Amino acid sequence: MAERSTPALPSPLQIERLRYRWPNGASALEHCSFKLPGPGLWMLVGGNGSGKSTLLRLITGLLKPESGQILRGCSPALVFQNPDHQLLLPSCGSELAFHRPAGHPLERGRIDAALEQVGLAGLAERPIHSLSGGQKQRLAIASALISGAQLLLLDEPTALLDPDSQQSVLTLIRELCPPLSALWVTHRLEELDHCDGALRMEGGQAGHWQSGQELRRQLERQGLPRGTAG
Ligand SMILES: Nc1ncnc2c1ncn2[C@@H]1O[C@H](COP(=O)(O)OP(=O)(O)OP(=O)(O)O)[C@@H](O)[C@H]1O
Ligand SMILES: [Mg+2]
Repeated sequence: MAERSTPALPSPLQIERLRYRWPNGASALEHCSFKLPGPGLWMLVGGNGSGKSTLLRLITGLLKPESGQILRGCSPALVFQNPDHQLLLPSCGSELAFHRPAGHPLERGRIDAALEQVGLAGLAERPIHSLSGGQKQRLAIASALISGAQLLLLDEPTALLDPDSQQSVLTLIRELCPPLSALWVTHRLEELDHCDGALRMEGGQAGHWQSGQELRRQLERQGLPRGTAG
C-alpha cells in the first residue's frame, strides 16, 4: 500500500488496484483502478453501495486502503452532499478564515475574493444559517478553494438542492474546471451531459471512461429508477 502526492504527475489523480474492506470484513472496493485524464469535470455514477463515497474518503485520506495506490497530482478536498455536515462556524467569513492554509495570515481581501468566486460577493458577515441550501453548498466549495485544493471531490452535491440551486452549483463547478479538477458523484443522470467524461462504478470496481451523454443513454436504456443507476 502506498499513498503520495506527486506534483509532477500529469494526471490530477490516479487510482491503482485499490482495495478496501470495512472492519467487519465487508468489501467496499476490489481492485478499483482509473486515472483522471487531466483537469476538468469528471463524473462517477453507480448503484447504491457500489463504493463511490468510500472511494472519495480514501482519496482524501479519511480512510486507509488495504492495498493499491492513490497517486495525487494535487491536493484534494471533499464536498459533502449536505453542507450542514461540513460548515462549522457562525459566518461565511469565519468559515473561510478557518479553512485558509495553515500559517497563512488572515486577509479579508482573500476571503472576499473567494466569496466572489462562488457568487457570494459581499456576504462575509452573513450568518451561515441564513443562507439557502445552494448558497451553503457554494460556501462549502469556497472553503475547499481557499484551502488550496485543486481537486474537488463532490459526493452528490446537488442531491438536497432545488432545481435552480442544482443548476447554479453545476454551473459553478463547470466554470472552475478546468483549470481545476472535480470528481463529481451523482445519481442525477441529466448532470452527465455537462461533464468531460464519466465512469460507472459496479461492485467496488470502476469501469472505463465514456462521454457523459453516452453513459446517460446507456443507463436510461436500462430503465433504472433514480438512485439505483449502475
Ligand atoms: N461504516 C461502514 N461500515 C461498514 N460498511 C459500510 C460502512 N459505510 C459503508 N459501508 C458499506 O460499504 C459499501 C459501499 O458503500 P458506499 O457508501 O461507498 O456506497 P455508495 O456507492 O456511495 O452508495 P450510495 O449511492 O448509496 O451513496 C456498501 O456496502 C456499504 O453498506
Ligand atoms: Mg454515497
